Amino acid sequence: MLPAPGIISPGLPGTPISTMDTPLLDRLFAYVESAHGRSLRGLNEAREQEPRRFAQVAELYLQWLVEARGESGIDAATDAFAQFSTDVNMAQARYERDGAYANKSFEEVYKDHYSDAEAMDGYLWGIYLTNFLWAHHFQIMMFFQDRFMSRLEKDAHLIEIAPGHGGWGAWALAHLPGASLEGYDISPQSIQIANAVAKAAGVDGRAKYVEKDALDLEKVQAESANACICSFLVEHLENPQHLYKVIHHLLKPGGTAFITGALTAAQVDHIYEYRYESELVMMCEKAGLRVLETLSANPMRTLPKAKFMPRSMALLVQKRRNEIY
Ligand SMILES: C[S@@+](CC[C@H](N)C(=O)[O-])C[C@H]1O[C@@H](n2cnc3c(N)ncnc32)[C@H](O)[C@@H]1O
Repeated sequence: MLPAPGIISPGLPGTPISTMDTPLLDRLFAYVESAHGRSLRGLNEAREQEPRRFAQVAELYLQWLVEARGESGIDAATDAFAQFSTDVNMAQARYERDGAYANKSFEEVYKDHYSDAEAMDGYLWGIYLTNFLWAHHFQIMMFFQDRFMSRLEKDAHLIEIAPGHGGWGAWALAHLPGASLEGYDISPQSIQIANAVAKAAGVDGRAKYVEKDALDLEKVQAESANACICSFLVEHLENPQHLYKVIHHLLKPGGTAFITGALTAAQVDHIYEYRYESELVMMCEKAGLRVLETLSANPMRTLPKAKFMPRSMALLVQKRRNEIY
Protein backbone atom coordinates (compact mmCIF):
# COMPACT_ATOMS: atom_id res chain seq x y z
CA MET A 1 0.00 0.00 0.00
CA LEU A 2 1.43 3.38 -0.98
CA PRO A 3 1.51 6.23 1.53
CA ALA A 4 -0.88 9.14 0.92
CA PRO A 5 0.13 11.07 -2.20
CA GLY A 6 2.26 14.13 -1.64
CA ILE A 7 3.55 13.01 1.72
CA ILE A 8 7.29 12.65 2.08
CA SER A 9 7.21 9.37 3.93
CA PRO A 10 10.69 7.92 4.11
CA GLY A 11 12.38 9.02 7.26
CA LEU A 12 12.20 12.11 9.39
CA PRO A 13 15.22 14.39 9.79
CA GLY A 14 17.66 12.53 11.99
CA THR A 15 16.44 9.06 10.95
CA PRO A 16 19.47 6.94 9.98
CA ILE A 17 19.34 6.13 6.28
CA SER A 18 19.65 2.43 7.02
CA THR A 19 16.24 2.54 8.75
CA MET A 20 14.50 4.53 5.99
CA ASP A 21 11.96 2.59 4.06
CA THR A 22 12.51 3.13 0.33
CA PRO A 23 10.99 0.10 -1.40
CA LEU A 24 10.49 1.80 -4.76
CA LEU A 25 13.97 3.25 -4.90
CA ASP A 26 15.41 -0.14 -3.93
CA ARG A 27 13.41 -1.68 -6.75
CA LEU A 28 14.71 0.90 -9.24
CA PHE A 29 18.32 0.24 -8.21
CA ALA A 30 17.76 -3.52 -8.51
CA TYR A 31 16.30 -3.09 -11.99
CA VAL A 32 19.16 -0.81 -13.10
CA GLU A 33 21.66 -3.38 -11.81
CA SER A 34 20.00 -6.18 -13.77
CA ALA A 35 19.11 -4.33 -17.00
CA HIS A 36 21.29 -1.20 -17.29
CA GLY A 37 24.43 -1.96 -15.29
CA ARG A 38 26.41 0.84 -16.95
CA SER A 39 24.07 3.45 -15.45
CA LEU A 40 24.68 2.32 -11.87
CA ARG A 41 27.78 4.43 -11.27
CA GLY A 42 25.94 7.64 -12.19
CA LEU A 43 23.03 6.76 -9.90
CA ASN A 44 25.41 6.17 -7.01
CA GLU A 45 27.08 9.53 -7.71
CA ALA A 46 23.69 11.22 -7.47
CA ARG A 47 22.75 9.41 -4.26
CA GLU A 48 26.09 9.94 -2.52
CA GLN A 49 25.80 13.74 -2.67
CA GLU A 50 23.06 13.80 -0.01
CA PRO A 51 21.81 10.28 0.66
CA ARG A 52 18.89 11.20 2.91
CA ARG A 53 17.44 13.88 0.65
CA PHE A 54 18.04 11.73 -2.38
CA ALA A 55 16.06 8.90 -0.77
CA GLN A 56 13.21 11.22 0.20
CA VAL A 57 12.84 12.92 -3.16
CA ALA A 58 13.38 9.78 -5.22
CA GLU A 59 10.85 7.74 -3.23
CA LEU A 60 8.27 10.51 -3.57
CA TYR A 61 8.77 10.84 -7.34
CA LEU A 62 8.63 7.05 -7.68
CA GLN A 63 5.38 6.85 -5.68
CA TRP A 64 3.82 9.27 -8.14
CA LEU A 65 5.22 7.30 -11.06
CA VAL A 66 3.73 4.03 -9.80
CA GLU A 67 0.44 5.73 -9.00
CA ALA A 68 0.32 7.21 -12.53
CA ARG A 69 1.72 4.29 -14.53
CA GLY A 70 1.05 1.21 -12.43
CA GLU A 71 3.48 -1.33 -11.00
CA SER A 72 5.41 -1.72 -14.26
CA GLY A 73 5.99 2.04 -14.42
CA ILE A 74 9.39 1.95 -12.74
CA ASP A 75 10.93 -0.50 -15.19
CA ALA A 76 9.44 1.27 -18.23
CA ALA A 77 10.57 4.72 -17.07
CA THR A 78 14.01 3.35 -16.20
CA ASP A 79 14.34 1.92 -19.73
CA ALA A 80 13.33 5.35 -21.08
CA PHE A 81 15.86 7.03 -18.78
CA ALA A 82 18.67 4.74 -19.99
CA GLN A 83 17.71 5.36 -23.63
CA PHE A 84 17.50 9.11 -23.08
CA SER A 85 20.92 9.17 -21.36
CA THR A 86 22.46 7.22 -24.25
CA ASP A 87 20.87 9.59 -26.80
CA VAL A 88 22.24 12.58 -24.91
CA ASN A 89 25.77 11.10 -24.86
CA MET A 90 25.60 10.41 -28.59
CA ALA A 91 24.32 13.92 -29.34
CA GLN A 92 27.15 15.35 -27.23
CA ALA A 93 29.74 13.30 -29.16
CA ARG A 94 28.32 14.62 -32.49
CA TYR A 95 28.39 18.16 -31.10
CA GLU A 96 32.06 17.73 -30.11
CA ARG A 97 32.76 16.66 -33.70
CA ASP A 98 30.66 19.32 -35.48
CA GLY A 99 30.95 22.26 -33.08
CA ALA A 100 27.23 23.00 -33.34
CA TYR A 101 23.89 21.49 -32.29
CA ALA A 102 22.27 19.33 -34.97
CA ASN A 103 18.91 21.17 -35.08
CA LYS A 104 18.48 24.80 -35.97
CA SER A 105 14.75 25.30 -36.22
CA PHE A 106 11.84 24.79 -33.87
CA GLU A 107 9.75 23.50 -36.77
CA GLU A 108 12.13 20.56 -37.36
CA VAL A 109 12.12 19.64 -33.68
CA TYR A 110 8.34 19.92 -33.42
CA LYS A 111 7.82 17.68 -36.45
CA ASP A 112 10.37 15.06 -35.39
CA HIS A 113 9.81 15.03 -31.62
CA TYR A 114 7.09 17.02 -29.88
CA SER A 115 4.33 15.79 -32.20
CA ASP A 116 5.37 12.11 -31.89
CA ALA A 117 3.22 10.77 -29.04
CA GLU A 118 5.09 7.53 -28.44
CA ALA A 119 8.54 9.12 -28.53
CA MET A 120 7.37 11.95 -26.26
CA ASP A 121 6.02 9.52 -23.70
CA GLY A 122 9.40 7.81 -23.27
CA TYR A 123 11.23 11.12 -23.47
CA LEU A 124 9.16 12.76 -20.72
CA TRP A 125 9.29 9.83 -18.30
CA GLY A 126 13.03 9.52 -18.98
CA ILE A 127 13.51 13.21 -18.13
CA TYR A 128 11.33 12.78 -15.04
CA LEU A 129 13.94 10.38 -13.68
CA THR A 130 16.96 12.49 -14.75
CA ASN A 131 15.76 15.11 -12.25
CA PHE A 132 17.23 13.05 -9.44
CA LEU A 133 19.19 10.26 -11.15
CA TRP A 134 21.67 12.62 -12.84
CA ALA A 135 23.90 13.93 -10.06
CA HIS A 136 24.06 17.46 -11.42
CA HIS A 137 20.29 17.59 -11.89
CA PHE A 138 19.75 16.42 -8.35
CA GLN A 139 21.82 19.47 -7.29
CA ILE A 140 19.31 21.58 -9.20
CA MET A 141 16.41 19.87 -7.40
CA MET A 142 18.00 20.83 -4.09
CA PHE A 143 18.38 24.41 -5.33
CA PHE A 144 14.68 24.42 -6.30
CA GLN A 145 13.66 23.18 -2.85
CA ASP A 146 16.05 25.34 -0.79
CA ARG A 147 16.12 28.58 -2.73
CA PHE A 148 12.80 28.75 -4.63
CA MET A 149 10.14 26.57 -3.01
CA SER A 150 11.11 27.60 0.52
CA ARG A 151 10.29 31.26 -0.13
CA LEU A 152 6.87 30.78 -1.77
CA GLU A 153 3.73 31.90 0.07
CA LYS A 154 1.44 29.02 1.10
CA ASP A 155 -1.36 30.26 -1.18
CA ALA A 156 0.86 31.28 -4.11
CA HIS A 157 -0.48 31.10 -7.65
CA LEU A 158 2.16 29.52 -9.89
CA ILE A 159 2.49 29.43 -13.66
CA GLU A 160 4.63 26.60 -14.99
CA ILE A 161 5.91 27.05 -18.52
CA ALA A 162 6.73 23.82 -20.36
CA PRO A 163 6.02 21.49 -17.43
CA GLY A 164 6.79 18.38 -19.52
CA HIS A 165 6.14 15.60 -16.97
CA GLY A 166 4.87 18.13 -14.42
CA GLY A 167 7.10 16.95 -11.57
CA TRP A 168 8.36 20.40 -10.55
CA GLY A 169 4.90 21.90 -10.17
CA ALA A 170 3.45 18.84 -8.43
CA TRP A 171 6.30 18.96 -5.93
CA ALA A 172 5.67 22.64 -5.19
CA LEU A 173 1.90 22.07 -4.80
CA ALA A 174 2.42 19.06 -2.54
CA HIS A 175 4.59 21.30 -0.36
CA LEU A 176 2.15 24.27 -0.33
CA PRO A 177 -1.37 23.10 0.54
CA GLY A 178 -3.10 26.36 -0.48
CA ALA A 179 -1.23 26.99 -3.72
CA SER A 180 -2.56 26.62 -7.27
CA LEU A 181 -0.90 26.21 -10.66
CA GLU A 182 -1.53 26.73 -14.37
CA GLY A 183 0.83 24.89 -16.71
CA TYR A 184 1.32 25.42 -20.44
CA ASP A 185 3.14 23.02 -22.75
CA ILE A 186 3.16 22.62 -26.51
CA SER A 187 3.04 18.82 -26.37
CA PRO A 188 -0.31 16.99 -25.86
CA GLN A 189 1.65 14.16 -24.25
CA SER A 190 3.00 16.53 -21.65
CA ILE A 191 -0.51 17.66 -20.73
CA GLN A 192 -1.59 14.05 -20.30
CA ILE A 193 1.43 13.06 -18.18
CA ALA A 194 1.43 16.25 -16.10
CA ASN A 195 -2.27 15.66 -15.28
CA ALA A 196 -1.52 12.05 -14.28
CA VAL A 197 1.40 13.14 -12.06
CA ALA A 198 -0.73 15.86 -10.42
CA LYS A 199 -3.45 13.29 -9.71
CA ALA A 200 -0.91 10.85 -8.30
CA ALA A 201 0.44 13.61 -6.07
CA GLY A 202 -3.08 14.44 -4.86
CA VAL A 203 -2.87 18.01 -6.18
CA ASP A 204 -4.97 17.70 -9.36
CA GLY A 205 -7.74 19.90 -7.93
CA ARG A 206 -5.23 22.75 -7.79
CA ALA A 207 -3.41 22.23 -11.11
CA LYS A 208 -4.65 22.98 -14.60
CA TYR A 209 -2.61 22.13 -17.70
CA VAL A 210 -3.27 23.61 -21.12
CA GLU A 211 -1.72 22.83 -24.51
CA LYS A 212 -0.19 26.10 -25.65
CA ASP A 213 2.98 27.57 -27.11
CA ALA A 214 4.93 29.34 -24.36
CA LEU A 215 5.69 32.18 -26.72
CA ASP A 216 1.96 32.99 -26.89
CA LEU A 217 1.61 33.42 -23.14
CA GLU A 218 1.61 37.18 -23.40
CA LYS A 219 -2.13 36.66 -23.99
CA VAL A 220 -2.44 35.25 -20.47
CA GLN A 221 -3.28 37.97 -17.98
CA ALA A 222 -0.32 40.17 -17.04
CA GLU A 223 0.96 39.99 -13.47
CA SER A 224 -1.22 37.01 -12.60
CA ALA A 225 1.48 34.81 -11.04
CA ASN A 226 3.22 35.04 -7.70
CA ALA A 227 5.87 32.72 -9.10
CA CYS A 228 6.87 30.98 -12.32
CA ILE A 229 8.66 27.73 -13.02
CA CYS A 230 10.31 27.42 -16.40
CA SER A 231 12.68 24.50 -16.46
CA PHE A 232 14.71 23.43 -19.48
CA LEU A 233 12.83 25.31 -22.16
CA VAL A 234 15.11 28.24 -23.06
CA GLU A 235 17.57 26.06 -24.99
CA HIS A 236 14.69 24.57 -27.00
CA LEU A 237 13.78 27.89 -28.63
CA GLU A 238 15.17 29.80 -31.60
CA ASN A 239 14.89 33.13 -29.79
CA PRO A 240 14.78 32.57 -26.03
CA GLN A 241 14.95 36.28 -25.18
CA HIS A 242 11.24 36.50 -25.88
CA LEU A 243 10.51 33.84 -23.23
CA TYR A 244 12.17 35.88 -20.48
CA LYS A 245 9.88 38.76 -21.48
CA VAL A 246 6.92 36.39 -21.17
CA ILE A 247 8.02 35.45 -17.64
CA HIS A 248 8.32 39.12 -16.78
CA HIS A 249 4.83 39.71 -18.18
CA LEU A 250 3.26 36.91 -16.11
CA LEU A 251 4.90 37.74 -12.76
CA LYS A 252 3.47 40.15 -10.23
CA PRO A 253 6.00 42.81 -9.20
CA GLY A 254 8.27 41.20 -6.60
CA GLY A 255 7.31 37.70 -7.82
CA THR A 256 10.02 35.11 -8.31
CA ALA A 257 10.85 32.59 -11.02
CA PHE A 258 12.88 29.41 -11.11
CA ILE A 259 14.46 29.12 -14.55
CA THR A 260 16.83 26.44 -15.77
CA GLY A 261 18.71 26.05 -19.02
CA ALA A 262 21.36 23.87 -20.64
CA LEU A 263 24.71 25.20 -21.84
CA THR A 264 26.97 23.50 -24.40
CA ALA A 265 24.88 20.39 -23.82
CA ALA A 266 23.51 18.76 -26.94
CA GLN A 267 20.21 16.94 -27.16
CA VAL A 268 18.04 16.07 -30.17
CA ASP A 269 15.73 18.99 -29.40
CA HIS A 270 18.24 21.63 -28.25
CA ILE A 271 18.41 24.55 -30.65
CA TYR A 272 19.83 27.60 -28.88
CA GLU A 273 23.45 27.10 -27.91
CA TYR A 274 24.23 28.94 -24.69
CA ARG A 275 27.98 28.99 -24.09
CA TYR A 276 28.34 31.18 -21.02
CA GLU A 277 26.33 31.41 -17.80
CA SER A 278 26.34 35.19 -18.21
CA GLU A 279 24.18 34.85 -21.35
CA LEU A 280 21.24 33.54 -19.30
CA VAL A 281 21.84 36.20 -16.66
CA MET A 282 21.92 38.94 -19.31
CA MET A 283 18.72 37.72 -20.94
CA CYS A 284 16.96 37.84 -17.55
CA GLU A 285 18.29 41.32 -16.86
CA LYS A 286 17.33 42.58 -20.30
CA ALA A 287 13.77 41.41 -19.64
CA GLY A 288 13.60 43.31 -16.32
CA LEU A 289 14.26 40.35 -14.05
CA ARG A 290 16.75 40.68 -11.21
CA VAL A 291 19.00 37.66 -10.76
CA LEU A 292 19.03 36.75 -7.08
CA GLU A 293 20.91 33.44 -7.16
CA THR A 294 22.39 31.01 -9.65
CA LEU A 295 23.78 27.50 -9.71
CA SER A 296 25.75 26.03 -12.59
CA ALA A 297 26.10 22.26 -12.34
CA ASN A 298 27.90 19.77 -14.56
CA PRO A 299 28.08 15.97 -14.77
CA MET A 300 30.84 14.39 -12.69
CA ARG A 301 32.26 12.63 -15.74
CA THR A 302 32.48 14.03 -19.28
CA LEU A 303 34.02 12.82 -22.54
CA PRO A 304 37.84 12.63 -22.32
CA LYS A 305 39.42 15.72 -23.97
CA ALA A 306 36.00 17.33 -24.38
CA LYS A 307 35.97 20.90 -25.71
CA PHE A 308 32.46 21.51 -24.40
CA MET A 309 31.54 21.08 -20.76
CA PRO A 310 27.82 20.31 -20.63
CA ARG A 311 26.19 22.32 -17.85
CA SER A 312 22.73 22.83 -16.47
CA MET A 313 22.11 26.17 -14.86
CA ALA A 314 19.40 27.20 -12.43
CA LEU A 315 18.47 30.80 -11.74
CA LEU A 316 16.28 32.32 -9.06
CA VAL A 317 15.04 35.67 -10.38
CA GLN A 318 12.67 38.35 -9.22
CA LYS A 319 10.53 40.83 -11.13
CA ARG A 320 11.53 44.34 -10.14
CA ARG A 321 8.93 46.53 -8.41
CA ASN A 322 9.64 50.19 -9.23
CA GLU A 323 13.38 50.19 -9.29
CA ILE A 324 15.17 50.30 -12.61
CA TYR A 325 18.42 48.69 -11.38
C1 LIG B 1 13.24 19.14 -21.73
S1 LIG B 1 11.51 19.17 -21.48
C2 LIG B 1 11.46 19.95 -19.88
C3 LIG B 1 10.41 19.34 -18.99
C4 LIG B 1 10.41 19.85 -17.56
N1 LIG B 1 10.14 21.27 -17.50
C5 LIG B 1 11.73 19.57 -16.87
O1 LIG B 1 12.43 20.48 -16.46
O2 LIG B 1 12.09 18.39 -16.70
C6 LIG B 1 11.04 20.45 -22.57
C7 LIG B 1 9.54 20.66 -22.59
O3 LIG B 1 9.30 21.88 -23.30
C8 LIG B 1 8.14 21.73 -24.07
N2 LIG B 1 8.19 22.77 -25.10
C9 LIG B 1 9.07 22.91 -26.10
N3 LIG B 1 8.83 24.02 -26.80
C10 LIG B 1 7.75 24.62 -26.24
C11 LIG B 1 7.03 25.81 -26.49
N4 LIG B 1 7.35 26.62 -27.50
N5 LIG B 1 5.99 26.11 -25.70
C12 LIG B 1 5.63 25.30 -24.68
N6 LIG B 1 6.28 24.16 -24.38
C13 LIG B 1 7.34 23.82 -25.14
C14 LIG B 1 8.23 20.31 -24.57
O4 LIG B 1 6.99 19.84 -25.03
C15 LIG B 1 8.73 19.61 -23.31
O5 LIG B 1 7.66 19.20 -22.51
